[in-house]
Amino acid sequence: MSKIALGADHGGYELKEAVKAHLDEIGVAYQDFGCFSTESVDYPDMAKPACEAVVSGECDKALLFCGTGVGISIAANKIKGIRACCCSDYFSAKYTRMHNDANALCLGGRVVGAGLAIELVDVFLNTAFEGGRHAKRIAKITALENEG
Ligand code: RB5
Repeated sequence: MSKIALGADHGGYELKEAVKAHLDEIGVAYQDFGCFSTESVDYPDMAKPACEAVVSGECDKALLFCGTGVGISIAANKIKGIRACCCSDYFSAKYTRMHNDANALCLGGRVVGAGLAIELVDVFLNTAFEGGRHAKRIAKITALENEG
């Protein structure tokens, strides 16, 4: 597996650190685009470089964190080529890979605990896109994106 891009605001900082420790344990490489403390910051500022690293191919997928996971997912989905999913349940984390070919998982530091977050990260990173009938839907999402 190639490198994972990490990004968080202050609301997701601690969960990012917990997930980072897990990635260290399982030997998954990552690049951390911040933030680096609980000092208040604006989540689009970390979503942008983390997602750009995915779009450029420097990183394979992004794991993004804010208080709810929602704000950073909205910001991420503004970046062309990003399909970000904010979720807090196992089924969605798995199927957003299988059906949506999601390349960014967004988690809420004030919503999910570290134990669940690690389960969600593992299934997200280890589940392949199914392709087939889903590929034409992704192509339609890309077409929407290209329409501006
Ligand atoms: C920051 O307080 C909070 O608004 C942010 O982390 C996030 O939850 C936004 O969606």
